[in-house]
Amino acid sequence: MAALYISFLFQLLFCLVFSLPTGRNSICGYKSCPATKPSMLNVHLVPHTHDDVGWLKTVDQYYHGDRNNIQHAGVQYILDSVIDQLQKDPARRFIYVETAFFYRWWRQQSQNTRRIVTQLVNEGRLEFINGGWCMSDEATTHYSAVIDQMTLGLRFLNDTFGECGRPRVAWHIDPFGHAREHASIFAQMGYDGFFFGRLDYQDKARRMKTKEMEMLWRASESLTPPLADLFTGVLPNGYNPPEGFCWDQSCNDAPIRDDPDLEDYNVDEIVQRFLNVSYNQAAFYKTNHIIMTMGSDFQYENANLWYKNMDKLIKYVNALQAKGSKVNVLYSTPSCYLQELNLANLTWPLKTDDFFPYADDAHDFWTGYFTSRPALKLYERLSNSRLQTCNQLEVLGGPKSTSGPFGEGDSDTMKRAMGVAQHHDAVSGTEKQHVAYDYARRLATGWAHCEVLVRNSLAVLSGSESPRVFCENLNISVCPLTESSQKFSMNVYNPLGRTVSWPVRLPVNGSLYSVTDTKGKTVDSQVVPLSKSTQQMRRNRGYAKGELVFQVEAPPLGYTTYIISILKDEPPASSPKPTATRSIQNKFLKVTFDDTTGLLSSLTNLETNQTIRLTQNFYWYNASSGNNKESRQPSGAYIFRPNSSDPFVINKTAEIQIVTVSSTVQEVTQWFSPWVSQVVRLYEGHRELELEWTVGPVPIADGLGKEVITRLDTDIESSDYFYTDSNGREVLERRKDYRPTWDLKQTEPIAGNYYPINSRAYIKDDKHQLTVVTDRSQGVSSIYNGSLEIMLHRRLLYDDFRGVGEPLSEPGEFFDGLVARGRLLLTLTPPNMAADVHRPLAQGMVLQPLLSFQDGTPLANTKLEFSGLQDALPPAVHLLTLSQWDKDSVLIRLEHQYQAKESKTHSQPITVNLQKLFSTLEVLGASEMSLGANQWKEDMNRLQWNTAKASKPLPLSAKDPSPWEVTLNPMEIRTFLLQLRQL
Ligand SMILES: *[C@@H]1O[C@H](CO)[C@@H](O)[C@H](O)[C@H]1NC(C)=O
Ligand SMILES: *[C@@H]1O[C@H](CO)[C@@H](O)[C@H](O)[C@H]1NC(C)=O
Ligand SMILES: [Zn+2]
Repeated sequence: MAALYISFLFQLLFCLVFSLPTGRNSICGYKSCPATKPSMLNVHLVPHTHDDVGWLKTVDQYYHGDRNNIQHAGVQYILDSVIDQLQKDPARRFIYVETAFFYRWWRQQSQNTRRIVTQLVNEGRLEFINGGWCMSDEATTHYSAVIDQMTLGLRFLNDTFGECGRPRVAWHIDPFGHAREHASIFAQMGYDGFFFGRLDYQDKARRMKTKEMEMLWRASESLTPPLADLFTGVLPNGYNPPEGFCWDQSCNDAPIRDDPDLEDYNVDEIVQRFLNVSYNQAAFYKTNHIIMTMGSDFQYENANLWYKNMDKLIKYVNALQAKGSKVNVLYSTPSCYLQELNLANLTWPLKTDDFFPYADDAHDFWTGYFTSRPALKLYERLSNSRLQTCNQLEVLGGPKSTSGPFGEGDSDTMKRAMGVAQHHDAVSGTEKQHVAYDYARRLATGWAHCEVLVRNSLAVLSGSESPRVFCENLNISVCPLTESSQKFSMNVYNPLGRTVSWPVRLPVNGSLYSVTDTKGKTVDSQVVPLSKSTQQMRRNRGYAKGELVFQVEAPPLGYTTYIISILKDEPPASSPKPTATRSIQNKFLKVTFDDTTGLLSSLTNLETNQTIRLTQNFYWYNASSGNNKESRQPSGAYIFRPNSSDPFVINKTAEIQIVTVSSTVQEVTQWFSPWVSQVVRLYEGHRELELEWTVGPVPIADGLGKEVITRLDTDIESSDYFYTDSNGREVLERRKDYRPTWDLKQTEPIAGNYYPINSRAYIKDDKHQLTVVTDRSQGVSSIYNGSLEIMLHRRLLYDDFRGVGEPLSEPGEFFDGLVARGRLLLTLTPPNMAADVHRPLAQGMVLQPLLSFQDGTPLANTKLEFSGLQDALPPAVHLLTLSQWDKDSVLIRLEHQYQAKESKTHSQPITVNLQKLFSTLEVLGASEMSLGANQWKEDMNRLQWNTAKASKPLPLSAKDPSPWEVTLNPMEIRTFLLQLRQL
């Protein structure tokens, strides 16, 4: 009870501080909206700029206006100029969206400018919209990183401007399709509405006709409405001004020439055109309010041009009201427009699916970027895992983590690097090559800062300050320490809230090793010769001849240590002999290979006694070069457009080699061509089959661009249906040549059926479900009954005319084409048991253990094992966030990781006691926040919307039994600020 009392005081204190910045004469938010005229058509002009956080130039080049030869764009000048212009007239408005840029700019401003800007914000004249670090991509991002990047931006805004800095509207005007999970996240972050620019052209045409451009999006099938309900509007002109009304320095439209004594007086003509445009637009929307986005990419560098012309437009259009005109035009913002829609109190159509895939014409499907730049996509995903580890260890290790024996470390650099990497031209793979390198460099620098933090924290927790190395290149079997050391220890840190068992492969040069755990018990291990494909990929970057394979088991939110010493210092036997065995199996699974082709032929779940036919092979679609009579559209970084619906098989047969590694792992290597190979693996004790694919350098000497897929063909009766996740969370049903909300005219039989996956896809029938868990975002489809195909890599020869101006042909480290390697994890189960397997499997893929190594024997008093939790979390609960917030408080997010109804055992509400979570931290107080952590939960008060009755029954939610015991309903995420003390 004492602790509860402290918590109460703590909250009180927060409330007192909280009310300060909003005080004194600030009237931001809905209260600051301009008056409108109920009997007229109100046209809301929204002055805005769209500032990509990297695309054709790096984020810093865009900020400074560097490299204007590539693209004329300088964000610092935009903000300078807009702030100047806003001061000239209180009616003028501006919205700013990308906090990564605003943060850079703010740091350089004088006290005086900051005071002016704060006042503009407090009066609603400058309004932050969206407000994340960037405007994230929606197809290729994982919810964990999206929530983090939003939190980073929103926190800066709240810290700097308080309540008046809190965005009310989410604004994804450019992303190329829209994910349902993003809408769910925005709703849970407290946004009142969401606007975007791009949707399928057929969908848009239909919505215009039926006036369904604005709707209520019910973005979750598990969360109780209106928790994940988000009012959503489609903007009329993408995010551009109506034709003829672009007054930026980068545009060529006529300015308003309003001196009747001069030549070319054009007021009457422009006003008339504007009235026409307004009435035309109003015909597609339901209320007497319409929105016009007055701005575009990197506009407003010379804001005077825009404002001077809009001032005149407003003056002359409204002057006609005296003569009976019914059009009222005003400076406004998306939230002021949204407020009017809300006040209209209409019933809005309900949307429950998503906005993928996006096509802007019959042969122009933006489904290539689901896979573009596969290595960057993986690196971004791994970086998320490392950032979560870094955040957790900052909390667990206490203040010495950031300033300890190994120097100064921080998690902020990595948070910002991950923040920019979520941008819709970053992890999406749609940036220029030099910008892609810049994103990767930022992630590497972020990790370098985290490495120091992690070293410090592990030194605190273990009591050992001996040097520690992280091996970055284990994926190509390079680690100088393990390759040469006679004896070393390996620390395995597990960022998940449950014990994990994880297979480890270390590059070594001996043929026999002893591996012992913290109890001194010997762990089964085996040295396998380094595969030919790994040797080819590694080239001269390492010299290990074998890989030491064993399984580790790491405690929840903690680490354990393994001691490894060499027993036989001789090279491992070279190539294993091919054997006649055509199958491998462990306790749970059996896979067979076809005698003649060497391809997979069946998969059996030995627990449930289910077998499916399973063949798998690699193919490539010949990318269109645009030389085609139907359309000139080539495949490129964004667009996927195969020349033919029939992909070329890379090889009808695979050369196979079977290696059986004692009890630890069984594996089969398949050779398809010099640039495509695969290892099929079964680890002991694991319920999944691992397919480790290696693709590249993709040859292009034949002059043909290639989009490489792997296809799984089964006898599962899946018909036209398949399933894909949304940003790594809830799963959506897909159907070939079909869209749930309109009658699709299919014009691209392959590309028009591709969808993004971030973590998993599956096909099923009554009895069987084959689920594939991926290690990064990819494009996926099911073109035939029982078949699932995943695009792995792309190498193209032409630009696709969407602005990037480069063919997507990644050079790789040796300039002969990028080699990509990755893993697909396959499970076979009855459909009603599938989630129990794929949920933890996917979570384990996202948050991987971090390995670090110390040479020699650990000192006697080293603490070899540690868990930050009192107990493992219940299987349904995922610790999504554990991150230091300020000196005394920590942000945590607890997530229910199952959907309603998907699991018999886990799809139930579950209760966690916050005070009984941590083993080394005492929880003194807890305050619940919105998902974006920029608002206290009790202050959340979203606009409400009427919608048509839902066809499906609504899920109900359970309540907390007590203030410390918090209940998570299926798919719910709860965010708390905890007041903590180290024990
Ligand atoms: C909104 O409309 C509903 C009927 O659809 C009505 O019951 C309600 O009173 C209206 N609210 C306001 C504020 O006009
Ligand atoms: C927002 O920032 C203010 C300081 O500007 C702080 O007092 C308040 O606690 C913050 N709100 C939240 C929800 O963090
Ligand atoms: Zn953009």
